[in-house]
Amino acid sequence: MNKKVAVIGAGNVGASVAQYMAEANIADVVMIDIIEGMPQGKALDLTQAGPVRNYNGMVTGSNDYKDIKDADLVVMTAGLARKPGMSREDLLNMNAEIVGTAAKNIKKYAPKAFVVVVSNPLDIMTYHMFKVTGFPTNRVCGQAGILDSTRFRAFVAMELGVAMTEVHAMVLGGHGDTMVPLPRYTTVAGIPIKELIPADRIKAISERTRNGGGEIVKLLKSGSAYYAPAAASVQMARAILMDEKRVFPCSAYLNGEFGIKDIYIGVPVVLGANGVEKVIELQLTKKEMSDLQASAKNYKGILKEIGY
Ligand code: NAI
Ligand code: 2OP
Repeated sequence: MNKKVAVIGAGNVGASVAQYMAEANIADVVMIDIIEGMPQGKALDLTQAGPVRNYNGMVTGSNDYKDIKDADLVVMTAGLARKPGMSREDLLNMNAEIVGTAAKNIKKYAPKAFVVVVSNPLDIMTYHMFKVTGFPTNRVCGQAGILDSTRFRAFVAMELGVAMTEVHAMVLGGHGDTMVPLPRYTTVAGIPIKELIPADRIKAISERTRNGGGEIVKLLKSGSAYYAPAAASVQMARAILMDEKRVFPCSAYLNGEFGIKDIYIGVPVVLGANGVEKVIELQLTKKEMSDLQASAKNYKGILKEIGY
């Protein structure tokens, strides 16, 4: 029997997740949305792309959470997207309600599922999902670090005129203004970027990465990025479903690692059949560590606003 992936929210990110997931050919996909007919219509369209794009899994849509029954993995994308001038934190209360409702239904209908949260503000919504489902921490994680790192990778590749896939990067911390790009751990075919790019340009690229989401919001004028966020989410889902043991920066629960406790924040993890199998406590300089801890402190404050 095929694995089953439920995608909550069939908007820009959710529908792109469904598309990439179907194209990965590793699971059936069901999309859930509150807009009547919309997830069903997109699912039918995606199904009809199958013969051309060479996939055979079932893609369905529904307005009823009961159709996520027994999903192996849920990608949580429902929520409001950022509009120009709106911070991720502005989305807090509306999205907390949406994520809370989804979490209760995931617990009811898919109690063994792994959950990859995408809804913003990411690190807060991932914590909220963990609390409301009551799932163990290895089964709930958030997507942001792969997106922030792939933005960094793309900018480094553009700077040097090299293939993007040759660049590896690590961006930690919360998915917002306090994220912590780590140029020290960013390489081109193993060569540290400080050997290849002057310090002022690395600083500028780090800054552009930090504002990467906002840059796209400004260009789109309504809504936010979705191709790269969806691709990143499917990379996480795939690593879990296929037990790939990939190492990615993801929003994971910390219980003392990096001196941080009881919060979800972006750190390097191993993703495999048990979800978040390990948090990798890589060596950080004093400055990198204090930036990561400051990011965590910022999110502790925001968690209080939704009652934690
Ligand atoms: P969108 O507006 O295109 O889609 C959101 C969908 O959620 C809509 O179709 C809406 O009808 C649906 N929805 C609303 N309430 C629902 C509920 N209670 N149950 C089921 N569906 C519901 O927005 P988009 O661009 O897909 O973004 C979705 C979320 O992902 C936003 O919170 C956005 O900020 C976040 N995001 C996070 C990223 C990350 O890296 N973590 C990257 C990009 C977006
Ligand atoms: C992004 O970084 C909106 O969080 C989303 O593009």
